[in-house]
Amino acid sequence: MLSQTERFYFGSFIDGQEVKSEERAVLEVRNPYNNQLIGKICCATKEDAKQAITVSQRVFQETMKKMPAYRRSDILRKTADLLESRTESFANLLVLETGKPIREARVEVDRAVQVLRFASEGAKQIHGEEIQLDSAHGGENQFGFTKRYPIGVVVAITPFNFPLNLVLHKVAPAIAAGNTIVLKPAEKTPLSPVMLYQLFMEAGLPAGALNIVMGPGQDLAEPLVKDPRVKRVTFTGSGQVGWKLKELAGHKNVTLELGSNAPNLVFEDADLDAAAAALVRGGVVTSGQACISVQRIYVQRSVYPALLDKLVDGARALRVGNPLDEATDVGPMITEAAAARAEEWIREAAEQGATVLTGGKRSGALLEPAVLTNVSPEMKVVCQEIFAPVFSVIPFDEEAEAISQANASDLGLHAGVFTKDISRALRVAEALETGGVWINDASIRRYDHIPYGGVKQSGIGKEGVAYAIEEMTEIKFIGIKL
Ligand code: SIN
Repeated sequence: MLSQTERFYFGSFIDGQEVKSEERAVLEVRNPYNNQLIGKICCATKEDAKQAITVSQRVFQETMKKMPAYRRSDILRKTADLLESRTESFANLLVLETGKPIREARVEVDRAVQVLRFASEGAKQIHGEEIQLDSAHGGENQFGFTKRYPIGVVVAITPFNFPLNLVLHKVAPAIAAGNTIVLKPAEKTPLSPVMLYQLFMEAGLPAGALNIVMGPGQDLAEPLVKDPRVKRVTFTGSGQVGWKLKELAGHKNVTLELGSNAPNLVFEDADLDAAAAALVRGGVVTSGQACISVQRIYVQRSVYPALLDKLVDGARALRVGNPLDEATDVGPMITEAAAARAEEWIREAAEQGATVLTGGKRSGALLEPAVLTNVSPEMKVVCQEIFAPVFSVIPFDEEAEAISQANASDLGLHAGVFTKDISRALRVAEALETGGVWINDASIRRYDHIPYGGVKQSGIGKEGVAYAIEEMTEIKFIGIKL
């Protein structure tokens, strides 16, 4: 009988073969909650990365670009069915490698199933349009139309926080469009991507249509992203890495889903109980390690004390601890170092005059959700992405002031606005400089078919299955002289 670590010892997967050898570096995968060894990966070399692109290019030319839409759709649907039938084992694996609570892990699996189903439907809905050529002088007696074609090899680099669903946000649209993929999953959470790969194989995806290279980004990103045979690079992760990748990518198209310090605005006419509940939850999903986590909360002064009390009560009521326990609301952060960094930012803010009303205490990788007041715009907890369960609560008097403070950031992915006044809600939503706005819900909410992507330093391009399919196809115009 194999031990768990032996069962979870994976190499890269290139052309349907596992690539593993003693000469290659090995990395451990540890459970962030108790630091137990749960698996290992055998890292790819730069040559492996090149080989994965060579294979992807061949399989694109020989197989994927010729595969009919109904077949791509079937593979995606079958993968969705397989994943759904194994929800509990995927959810358990997600808990082990990310530390997210089991209830959240089940939600991630459910979302991943939906992404596959959206992609399965999307594969059959790729279409161009007729162009009315006689709108131009001399265009009479001609007929024109466009058609969308797959682009070829896509390189996908994915983060640790949603290792199943954010992989699928790249892989599923790429397959729906008829492309091939080289995936480099986060080295801290490589296990669920491999289990997913096995489902794709079981569902009939041709060998080499999806290739996985394992290992750290600092070794593999450059050979993958610079390679001229790659047609699109799609990355989710930190801004620091993302913008560097864009430089390396040269003339290639790039999708960057980067971070934010999401603002959420609460006006005096809002339902305060509902707002507080949504905001607290919105700051602790996957321990605040989501790009759209609630970070800055701007509250109209007349309801500031009342909302603050509710936020503090809500944060204190959260159960922090073992992510496998059904009652746990907040598990560990991905590493002790990540939690220590957030703790340090809180300490620095307190030294600069902030008040920590609750939380902020750390035990290993567990960080108690923290509510801070008396913060100022230049504190890191406000102006940078903390990526931890830490809320900064800030009072405002006028709508314009709230908008201007919310927009005083280089980042802009999602925002939340709480008010019962529909005119104000729409006015504020239009004024906020973010890629998406929720009215009467917190910035954290995301459905997998909505367009998702930031403005300013939060990224370029859009995900959300149909939007990603669009970015992974190109339009060709065809005209006919009648
Ligand atoms: C992210 O952190 O960018 C993804 C959030 C989500 O999909 O819910």
